Amino acid sequence: MRRDPQRARLAAGILIGLAGAGVVALAGTLALFHAGIGARPAPSALETIVARRARHLLVPRAMRDMPNPLPRTEEALRAGREHWADHCAICHGNDGRGDTAIVNGTYPRAPDMRLAATQRLTDGELFYIIENGVRFTAMPAWGTGDPSPTSESWNLVHSSATSPSSAPARSRRWSG
Ligand code: HEC
Repeated sequence: MRRDPQRARLAAGILIGLAGAGVVALAGTLALFHAGIGARPAPSALETIVARRARHLLVPRAMRDMPNPLPRTEEALRAGREHWADHCAICHGNDGRGDTAIVNGTYPRAPDMRLAATQRLTDGELFYIIENGVRFTAMPAWGTGDPSPTSESWNLVHSSATSPSSAPARSRRWSG
């Protein structure tokens, strides 16, 4: 019987893929046994970078590019701040720093949202995170994901982030 080189290459590719997945699973299991299942350690810098990148790619592009449909009025900012104090500050702190008892015990931690990494997120990305939460983290989903202008999460986007559409207030974030 003649060997089909294409099928042989496919079989080799599958074997290499399976072996690679096995190595990654083994390394992950060993790391888990070494570090334990507890949430106390902070994730490594590499893990944080990879997780943020993956989260960014998993937010649908149309959503990422969506500007905040609510005008940035004093009223919207006030509503956002109140909402923040009621629902978000318990983890993120009033100033967005995230240095709270709850978050210091979660894996991963919440970032200091005053820093560039958060302030660089677009309106749509922030909205998506707030509405849908982030799987495998303590960040809960606060809505249905429906981006209509009536969603209260757009107020939170105004009061919690910087983006091209809200640039004038860039340095006034987290005044609380
Ligand atoms: C129970 C704790 C908890 C509460 C309550 C909470 N968050 Fe979070 N939040 C987190 C954690 C943990 C993360 C980090 C998620 C990750 O690593 O992707 C996060 C991430 C975020 C991010 C992404 C920031 C970034 O740069 O990665 C935004 C935006 C956010 N939260 C907004 C909110 C808002 C708005 C509320 C209130 C409506 C809220 N969160 C309530 C725990 C919480």
